Amino acid sequence: MTIIIDAKEGIDYEKLEKAALILREGGLVAFPTETVYGLGANALLKDAVDKIFWAKGRPQDNPLIVHISSKEMLEICAEITDERVYMLIERFWPGPLTIVLPKKNVIPENVTAGLPTVGIRMPANKVALDLIRLSGVPVAAPSANVSGKPSPTEANHVIEDLMGKIDIIIDGGKCSFGLESTVVDLSGKKPVILRPGAISYFALKEVLSDIEYSKTMVEGLTGTVPRAPGMKYKHYAPEANLIIVKGRIDKRIDKINEMKKKLEFKGHNVGILCFYETAHNFDSQYKLILGSMFDAKECGRNLFSILRKFNQFSVDYILCEWGNFDLEFLALENRLYKAAANNIVEVL
Ligand code: TXA
Ligand code: MG
Repeated sequence: MTIIIDAKEGIDYEKLEKAALILREGGLVAFPTETVYGLGANALLKDAVDKIFWAKGRPQDNPLIVHISSKEMLEICAEITDERVYMLIERFWPGPLTIVLPKKNVIPENVTAGLPTVGIRMPANKVALDLIRLSGVPVAAPSANVSGKPSPTEANHVIEDLMGKIDIIIDGGKCSFGLESTVVDLSGKKPVILRPGAISYFALKEVLSDIEYSKTMVEGLTGTVPRAPGMKYKHYAPEANLIIVKGRIDKRIDKINEMKKKLEFKGHNVGILCFYETAHNFDSQYKLILGSMFDAKECGRNLFSILRKFNQFSVDYILCEWGNFDLEFLALENRLYKAAANNIVEVL
């Protein structure tokens, strides 16, 4: 049985302490963070961590992020081989940045999928921080969705995916960012961004001037071996076939309307995913708006819940417009491309 704790209007510490105890003793607790909901287990207990892979149906070779509530916990889990880690922490923690470092032996192999490194982050959400602090242990937590589905940005999404499979779901309302943390690898010679996320390249560059993107990162699903193993799987996917139509505004609008007509003629239900500014160009009962095309943050907050909403429409295809946006949109673009399994139609 899964217990739901309501923490939308504030925290009942008696209940949170119980959840922390269950977490510490090997149970599974889903909790809100500022990015997406996490599915937490005591990161020091191999058997507890195994339950995460079971509940999510997650491939065993995809490592988990360890969530901590203090600098002391960081030093328990990881080797600090690069002093610059403290510069990143100073600037971005608590917050949506995961740092990959050489792991210490207390972290079981299943947390890191056998890798010699561990990804660590201190979340900014108060419920998350208090839960970890009260449990007294580092908490391994992937996003709290069934593997392959869009990440959960509200408790209902977690309920949809994991009800009956885990011990507790803490409902902290909607996540403020809605896209996962940026993952930075500091275990090698040069700092590398393995996954774009809530913290932008520019913000990171101000602290680490030599930081680079991993070459395989944006390519996502294409052949090469990814350094963040999670990047190679089909991800975030709605049940319908998602097709991205990318190009100049006028061209992509025409293309989408043309594709929609053809698909409808064949008897398919077609959804449209568009921006406020362009929505009036599409005539569809299955039209959802991502946000403003000038506001990457707003679109990021909405993406995952919109992909889930399309499932309720039972459409066969979703045609999503996209443009040549700047780096502010990179994290969003990365998730969208993965949700579409790189199914992109470019119009020039
Ligand atoms: O915002 C987030 O990061 C959320 C919340 C819950 O904190 N968590 C999250 O976890 O997105 P998950 O499991 O869905 O994604 C973890 C990503 C994967 O792409 C994984 O491959 C990568 O981080 N990762 C974890 N440990 C790693 C390591 N040691 N080396 C390289 N990549 C790692
Ligand atoms: Mg995930």
